[in-house]
Amino acid sequence: MKQVTTVEELRQLVGGARRTGQSVALVPTMGYLHAGHCTLMQQAKNENAFVVASIFVNPLQFGAGEDFAVYPRDLERDAAAAAASGVDVLFTPTVEEMYPQGYENMKTLVTVSGVSEGLCGASRPGHFQGVATVVSKLFHLVQPDRAYFGQKDAQQVAVIRQMVRDLNWPVEIIAVPIVREADGLALSSRNVYLSQEERTAALVLSRALQKAKTVLQAGERRGAVVEAAAKEELAQEALAAVEYVKLVDAATMQPVSELQGPAVLALAVRIGKTRLIDNLLWEEC
Ligand code: PAF
Repeated sequence: MKQVTTVEELRQLVGGARRTGQSVALVPTMGYLHAGHCTLMQQAKNENAFVVASIFVNPLQFGAGEDFAVYPRDLERDAAAAAASGVDVLFTPTVEEMYPQGYENMKTLVTVSGVSEGLCGASRPGHFQGVATVVSKLFHLVQPDRAYFGQKDAQQVAVIRQMVRDLNWPVEIIAVPIVREADGLALSSRNVYLSQEERTAALVLSRALQKAKTVLQAGERRGAVVEAAAKEELAQEALAAVEYVKLVDAATMQPVSELQGPAVLALAVRIGKTRLIDNLLWEEC
């Protein structure tokens, strides 16, 4: 695996792979890699000849008062994990390399309306604009045939799919299923913020999704009833402060009152100071 920090080096290496006709995959990450990220990289390697992974904590997608400064970072450990997962090139740019004029001075920002506006978009204004902008830059730099994202960030997947459709980008977006700990907690780099007590409390998210799944499996199709099942479970946990529980269309992220096509039951819950998200993708109709 080669690790590069500049756009120039990245372009040269990807260009070399393209000239020999290799298919190119991109796995964008913010690092502090866990088994979920490794699954993305391994799947990318199984499906493509040449895999680029990026590690960049993107300041443009963090709001004032969010955790940009303290977001966990461990580049040495990440490089070992990426190499072991079959990555060919690890791109680890500085903020200055990605935003030479300063990210605050970016004049071209990518806004994906509609799909970005509810759920996390409502509580984190500017977040998806920051995501769509940095992912656009990475797509331009790497020009991947396929790009891999975790389904845990279901709204992010929907935003990127919409952007790719709207801009006729010849890249296939692959959403990889959520990877969970044995007890159900969805893997997230932010789980490191949880104390032991909060870690136990955080299990309420997967329990709530499980409850909702049981209701769906029993044939319930009304969004409000499915959401109520999850909310009832979340209410049992004193440390959980619910931000949203919503059944939404998987592509548009618009609320679903009566289930008809693929849908996502999406949750955002604060456990202490840590904001966690999780979701259930429901594709049977
Ligand atoms: O999901 C993430 O880690 C980030 O939002 C992404 C896609 C790498 C863009 O910064």
